[in-house]
Amino acid sequence: MTQRHRIAPSILSADFARLGEEVRQVVAAGADWIHFDVMDNHYVPNLTFGPMVCQALKPHAVRADGQPVPIDVHLMVEPVDALAAAFAKAGADLISFHPDATAHVHRSVQAVRAQGCQVGLVFNPAATLDVLDWVIDDIDLILIMSVNPGFGGQSFIDSALRKVEAVRRRIEACGRDIRLEVDGGIKTDNIRRVADAGADTFVAGSAIFGQPDYAGVIKAMRAELARP
Ligand code: DX5
Ligand code: ZN
Repeated sequence: MTQRHRIAPSILSADFARLGEEVRQVVAAGADWIHFDVMDNHYVPNLTFGPMVCQALKPHAVRADGQPVPIDVHLMVEPVDALAAAFAKAGADLISFHPDATAHVHRSVQAVRAQGCQVGLVFNPAATLDVLDWVIDDIDLILIMSVNPGFGGQSFIDSALRKVEAVRRRIEACGRDIRLEVDGGIKTDNIRRVADAGADTFVAGSAIFGQPDYAGVIKAMRAELARP
């Protein structure tokens, strides 16, 4: 698939009692990436799963033709470096972290890279983008939170659209191929607005796992993205 847009279902809203099967089903439904929300009950007020679960799910994130589906790890943890290394060893393909969760952002970026993973920075709804002035040349992905991190099923915060536009301008100015992902409250009825603001990668948890027909939701999202 050479399409520009990526849909990254968040397994935060999947049935935790059957996670392997849920990953297989959402891959079969057309997921481009698997979004893996790691919460530590410290940086955010919730607790999810760690590298052992990532490692256990890795063999399930494979397409029918044998192609692996990238695992997109979103770390909502503080500090960052040790867990990032553990997730790299557990099979993560992309690892994103919040710059305010590490004392040395540049060092953490390099540490993820050194593990052979792509690296992203995540910006909360009220966070400024200033750190990008200094590290945009070193990262592969920018993740804009359109809800406050910690829980699935929250409503999209509209100011994220302005932030996505600002990030798109920064990516164009830097000239590198950097993914612009948006996370929180994305549904079929707002995905197009988010894409029009400049995003190319879309996390969706409750919108997909909250419906019985995962493929139907992903197809409807792609139809919105393709609409003239
Ligand atoms: C929130 C997580 C999101 C969340 C999105 O902290 O980062 O990935 O699962 O869930 P929805 O799509 O339900 O807003
Ligand atoms: Zn997330």
